Amino acid sequence: MTPGRAMRGTEFVVALLVLTLACVATTADAEEGLALVPLPQSIEWRGGAFALNDTTTIAADPNLEPAAHALRQALGPATGFALADGAAATATIRFTLEASLAAEGYRLEASPAQVEIRASTAAGAFYAVQTLRQLLPVEAFSETPVRDVDWRIPAALIEDAPRFGWRGMHLDVGRHFMPVDFVLDFIDALAMHKMNRFHWHLTEDQGWRIEIRRYPKLAEVGAWRAESEGMFLSGEMDGTPHGGFYTQDEIRRVVAYAAERFVTIVPEIEMPGHAQAAIAAYPELGNTGETLPVRARWGVNEHVLNVEESTIVFLQNTLDEVIELFPGPWIHIGGDEAPTDEWEQSERAQLRMRALGLEEERELQGYLISRMHAFLRERGRQLVGWDEILDTGTLPEDAVVMSWRGSGPGSRAALEGHPVVMAPIQPTYFDYTQSSRGDEPPAIPVVNRLEDVYAFEPVPADLPPAAARRILGAQGQLWTELMPDPDHVAYMAFPRAIALAEVLWLDPGHRDYDDFRARLEPHLTRFDLLGLPYRPPGDDALTLGDRVIRFAIDSVGWVMTLLP
Ligand code: ACM
Repeated sequence: MTPGRAMRGTEFVVALLVLTLACVATTADAEEGLALVPLPQSIEWRGGAFALNDTTTIAADPNLEPAAHALRQALGPATGFALADGAAATATIRFTLEASLAAEGYRLEASPAQVEIRASTAAGAFYAVQTLRQLLPVEAFSETPVRDVDWRIPAALIEDAPRFGWRGMHLDVGRHFMPVDFVLDFIDALAMHKMNRFHWHLTEDQGWRIEIRRYPKLAEVGAWRAESEGMFLSGEMDGTPHGGFYTQDEIRRVVAYAAERFVTIVPEIEMPGHAQAAIAAYPELGNTGETLPVRARWGVNEHVLNVEESTIVFLQNTLDEVIELFPGPWIHIGGDEAPTDEWEQSERAQLRMRALGLEEERELQGYLISRMHAFLRERGRQLVGWDEILDTGTLPEDAVVMSWRGSGPGSRAALEGHPVVMAPIQPTYFDYTQSSRGDEPPAIPVVNRLEDVYAFEPVPADLPPAAARRILGAQGQLWTELMPDPDHVAYMAFPRAIALAEVLWLDPGHRDYDDFRARLEPHLTRFDLLGLPYRPPGDDALTLGDRVIRFAIDSVGWVMTLLP
């Protein structure tokens, strides 16, 4: 139809018919367990199916070989098929380089005779493999052999590419240490949903989790905490010690595992706040000279790092080891929730301010961030920080701002020229409860429902196009004060992270919550097969109390964006 001309009657009837058939196809797919999540941008179903069997072979362009390897790894355990290399002329699954496709995009064409995957990068081909896995019966996700399954891939043409480049999840291992095996499973779950950033929150007041060879006490002392506060702000301590840390060899293993799945890890070393575990290990990093314990309680903490030259050298030496371990372009330096009370009281902090020509304590934070920014830039890395790093007005333009106090700071940052990752409390904090029903496990008592996550729009509507393009994407947050173990983390993460994955992948015009919910049911069978816990999705109403609390949080976030 040419623009400006009204639709004629016949066109209208044909359009209606196509629309109806499309709806029927979608429903039937979900009923048959054919649940694609995130939904590809474009699917054209065709007749017949490709039968995967023990004669199926693979031919891959050398650049796309990592995706062929991923396919073998994904399907081998359930099917028992070798999916060996085949000759280019006869192989029935082919990975072909096609330079014109978007960097993370792919084109998957399945016919009864063969499956052809085209991509311009191994990442794109890897995402085609994730789709291919989901085109097979759900048993494909079994980690042990399954007999008597008809391993058929319905004939289709799928053309796909993500909306956003930053499709992430954060995990706080500072409050509760999470074992390496769980971290690997978590990365697998992200990759399966085509997410590509894992923000690993490695240091906290309550625990330092990464071995730093130059400063062994960070792990020896800083990784262990005497007890925890049982419930949200209950004040009751449980008296149970816990902790743990990752050796550098373990970190290398996780980084390699993530790289094979096209997940870039963004390591976070918190400064100058949320660093009491480091001060417990090396009291000279603090402001009072006191030997502090690794913090056991929750919340914003007045004990922060000092900003003396020796502490900056400590942080740079630490970051040098972090940079060596993590090859990705981004290093997160925290920067959130750093009260200035101790700097106000400390004679040495006051002297430092004067020597640096600073007038307010808050400027010490800006000074620290600038030094870290310059240090990282010299090493070819980009600084990422929580949105408070904007507040001193001295942030270099290429620093990435992670907007958590609502989306307002993200808008402001984008208007000021910074790249932005949206991580607003509402609805991307997955430590917040999933409903106000009485049977939810311990969680922050503010509701972020599955439906709210699915409705999230990462680009604020009022941003002009140039600023909107600076929104790299978004991520979900898992703060683990109330999550003592991996099962609890998985329960809080899923299915909300799945909804977020679709929000970040799919163009908003294709988003449909009812359709997502219909696909989610069979999709969660895959979680059962993988042994990954999740919260059974429910369609939970908001109470009046929920609405009031949400409004209050939004208002506080909005007011904070107005503060200098
Ligand atoms: C944060 O929640 N303090 C980033």
